Amino acid sequence: MACNIVRGFSLLIFLITLGTFSSFLPITTAQGFKIEEATVYDLQFAFQRNQLTSRQLVEFYHKQIQTQNPVLKGVLELNPDALSQADKADQERKAKAPGSLSPLHGIPILLKDNIATKDKLNTTAGSFALLGSVVPRDAGVVTRLRKSGAIILGKATLSEWSYYRSNAAPSGWSARGGHGKNPYNLGNPCGSSSGPAISVAANLVAVSLGSETDGSILCPSGSNSVVGIKPTVGLTSRAGVVPISPRQDTIGPICRTVSDAALVLETIAGIDINDKATIKASNYVPKGGYAQFLKKDGLRGKRLGVVRDFYGFEKGTLQHETFELHFKTLRQKGAVVLDNLKIENLDEILNDQSESFAMGFEFKLSLNSYLRDLVASPVRSLDDVIAFNKKHSKLEKLEEYGQDLMLIAQKLKGIGTLKEAVLNMSRLSHIGFEKLMITNKLDAVVAPFSFFGSILAIGGYPGVSVPAGYEKGAPFGIIFGGLKGSEPKLIEIAYSFEQATMIRKPPPVRKSKV
Ligand SMILES: *[C@@H]1O[C@H](CO)[C@@H](O)[C@H](O)[C@H]1NC(C)=O
Ligand SMILES: *[C@@H]1O[C@H](CO)[C@@H](O)[C@H](O)[C@H]1NC(C)=O
Repeated sequence: MACNIVRGFSLLIFLITLGTFSSFLPITTAQGFKIEEATVYDLQFAFQRNQLTSRQLVEFYHKQIQTQNPVLKGVLELNPDALSQADKADQERKAKAPGSLSPLHGIPILLKDNIATKDKLNTTAGSFALLGSVVPRDAGVVTRLRKSGAIILGKATLSEWSYYRSNAAPSGWSARGGHGKNPYNLGNPCGSSSGPAISVAANLVAVSLGSETDGSILCPSGSNSVVGIKPTVGLTSRAGVVPISPRQDTIGPICRTVSDAALVLETIAGIDINDKATIKASNYVPKGGYAQFLKKDGLRGKRLGVVRDFYGFEKGTLQHETFELHFKTLRQKGAVVLDNLKIENLDEILNDQSESFAMGFEFKLSLNSYLRDLVASPVRSLDDVIAFNKKHSKLEKLEEYGQDLMLIAQKLKGIGTLKEAVLNMSRLSHIGFEKLMITNKLDAVVAPFSFFGSILAIGGYPGVSVPAGYEKGAPFGIIFGGLKGSEPKLIEIAYSFEQATMIRKPPPVRKSKV
């Protein structure tokens, strides 16, 4: 297929025959450009110097997917129009002045399967219940991606219904997509945006979009040694995304580098008339986009808080040692690290049931509304989905995994209680995380992935996850979280940390046995 872009192809086959897959030849274009691990800036530079075309890029990723996806299961569907979109991008690049095109022009992107596209791709949240549904329009973020000239490569796997069907199903599993694998150790990829993280980690695509309600971008990003940005709720449009909670849902980039994530974020952030929350949050979008905050010295003068309660691991473990080293690095790069801070009402937050109650209730309401708006669909309500799962219990593995979260949501009643739960969470956030940030004049709190994710989730706050290390072959991340609209600062901090440490290394290539 893409032999012309693969140097040393026969050697590669030789290696496969030998059964060796630990070493892998760098794959370069005929013009000597290596696509693996290339950033969006690298790719654009290669386009400009005629070392690479979008068609070659799509063909390369198709080949990667063909080889590795049978094992990794990060990609759910391929867009049959990706190659023609690539050809169009290649034509446009020839016709336009260099530098006049958007940074994502001609760049292939993969979308979590809860993000609607009005094209040949299905949008199903991984469930057979939505197969054959027809969406009214592209999701708001997809409209922006298409305008920028990005190529929609396909849909990524996820935890089915973004992990709101059942607690018993493994993270990263869906009936349509199977069980996604962490490319580093073939273990848990973490969900629910597992497919996007797996796929960028294994170089199956350039960049991707995930979504988060509580942990679903930050956790898979850390677990697969990639960078995820969970934006302030409303910064990016949720219109046309299969929902859980409009109060907590947010769409954000999952990429290999902070610079790629910043470029994707600036492409998708902003007002969408189909998601009212984007109007208010548009105040947070900086003039000139997010790339201007990619500063190597971005840590200088930043105040970072450490809340030890978020650090679950024991002294002496590799993670503990690694984080102590990272604090040193942060200080060396000019940050003030304030250690042993406390969130006053942490116990109250952890014992509070408001989030699970509100999420269940909001899931029912917002899912029903999403399903009603579809042009056509096998299911039109949460009740229908539950009935579908019962009717197709084998296909949906109902006996093994059940649908407890959906059944609980179905029964929730009392709009007054919902209002109370929402008020509770905003009160807990104000006297908890916000107070901590304000009284200590912090730019960010730094923590491993832990229930810190939930603190950010219930308040609608942003967070960025950057590769931080590997323990027994399993990657882990470091999270910088801040107040609403603090993405510019978080990007400065994350980029500066990433450039100082450069911890990400690509996973071994996972070929299927032929
Ligand atoms: C969407 O689903 C239908 C029904 O299974 C399938 O025939 C079609 O190939 C899918 N589309 C893509 C792009 O995979
Ligand atoms: C809200 O908080 C109060 C006080 O902590 C608590 O008694 C109540 O159960 C909470 N409401 C909900 C819906 O969680």
